[in-house]
Amino acid sequence: MTWLRRKSIDRITQHEEGRRLVPTLSWPHLVALGIGAIVGTGIYTLIGVGADKAGPAVLLSFVIAGVVCACAALAYAELSTKMPAAGSAYTYSYGVLGESIAWIVGWSLILEYSLVVSTVAVGWSGYFVGFLQWVQQNFGWNVTLPAALAAGPHAGGVINLPAIVITFMVAGLLMAGTRESATLNAILVVFKLIALAVFIAVALPAFNPDNLQPFMPFGFPKSLDAAGVERGVMAAAAIIFFAFYGFDAISTAAEETKNPGRDLSIGIIGSMIGCTLIYLLVALAAVGAMSYTVFGKSAEPLALIMRELGHGTAALVIGIVAIIALPTVLLAFFYGQSRIFFVMSRDGLLPRGLSKVNARTGTPVAITVFTAILVAALAGVARLDEIAALANAGTLAAFVAVGVCLLVLRSREPERPRVFRTPLAWIVGPVAILGCLYLFWSLPQRTQLWFLVWNAVGFVVYLAYSRRNSVLAKGGDA
Ligand code: ALA
Repeated sequence: MTWLRRKSIDRITQHEEGRRLVPTLSWPHLVALGIGAIVGTGIYTLIGVGADKAGPAVLLSFVIAGVVCACAALAYAELSTKMPAAGSAYTYSYGVLGESIAWIVGWSLILEYSLVVSTVAVGWSGYFVGFLQWVQQNFGWNVTLPAALAAGPHAGGVINLPAIVITFMVAGLLMAGTRESATLNAILVVFKLIALAVFIAVALPAFNPDNLQPFMPFGFPKSLDAAGVERGVMAAAAIIFFAFYGFDAISTAAEETKNPGRDLSIGIIGSMIGCTLIYLLVALAAVGAMSYTVFGKSAEPLALIMRELGHGTAALVIGIVAIIALPTVLLAFFYGQSRIFFVMSRDGLLPRGLSKVNARTGTPVAITVFTAILVAALAGVARLDEIAALANAGTLAAFVAVGVCLLVLRSREPERPRVFRTPLAWIVGPVAILGCLYLFWSLPQRTQLWFLVWNAVGFVVYLAYSRRNSVLAKGGDA
């Protein structure tokens, strides 16, 4: 049946000359790529949004999102070591569930990666513009941008110029070659972890159990408050989920990994566990240090808590680190995004010309430029909270597919050798699938609608172009 035609799993890692990525990465690069992709706007900014939705019980939201992501990460580790090819959830779905499902997953991944890049670019721009204001106030230098160029139309400007500039700078790094950007990423990751450590060290000693009362003021499931805002532990978990993903970006680097069997599982699981522990400490320190009502609506909650506790220098350090290190998230998702486009075009589902690899750098230059233009256009005008929620919707769809692939392949080919075996797969897989569905249901209704619209558009593209141009449809094996 053509709808469900599948790629051969055995041949998934074989590609024609000129369309193969160069293996240059090993596990320390991957752990750094993972942490670089995971720790970002989620913990630096959305922790406030989460606390506003759930109160101190945002701690539970972190635990729920973390457990669901950990289960998804285990499924990713098994599949990515079995199919170490660029393309992540899209590629696994193509090999296990069939082309039309893979298309939906790929189309959802485009939503995830591009919206994360745009969201973080806008978040970065916020910190950057704030920093320019701080410089002007403290040194008298006239460095601030005109309001029209400092934010998109929703925030009183015309175009968000810093968000566009940072997007193209990161694209330039990627085009210079994967290895160089991964090494720079590793250095910036260290800064990011130091800033969170400073936050924990300063905020935790100020812990006051009274701040945790009442613990769950808005209940557990998503529900509308009097003002029509969606609140509750699950509504917060559906947003906080943004803070956790990024480990999946590692699996998009599979084809460029020297020893995928070992390195990918270390990279995915190591970065996931490390980040979950750090987040729980940061969240505990934040809600214990002061009432969530103080920082819940802040655009820079961690810096605000530092200032309120009388530590202006720590607040400045956190702000500056956000500016220099948030680009690691951009880098990782940008990298993933260009690889998703690359693989989909190599498969013929998107125009083939986009999958040519540059002979000198070994990177897909055309697709990187295309991605940069798309993402920068969005970042220039988009609204932060809405695109973050929509990015979550795309990610949840991909995670559900990965959970399903894990279970289908286990029952279809139980004897196929597995470099990494997910422990308790028949518990981990269903927890990942059902957990992601529950998180999706807990997203704002508007987001769910937009997600459906996006996929309806995708389906039209599939029918009109991809189904007929698919390499598999033409008798090839991509
Ligand atoms: N986890 C990434 C972040 O929080 C997407 O920025």
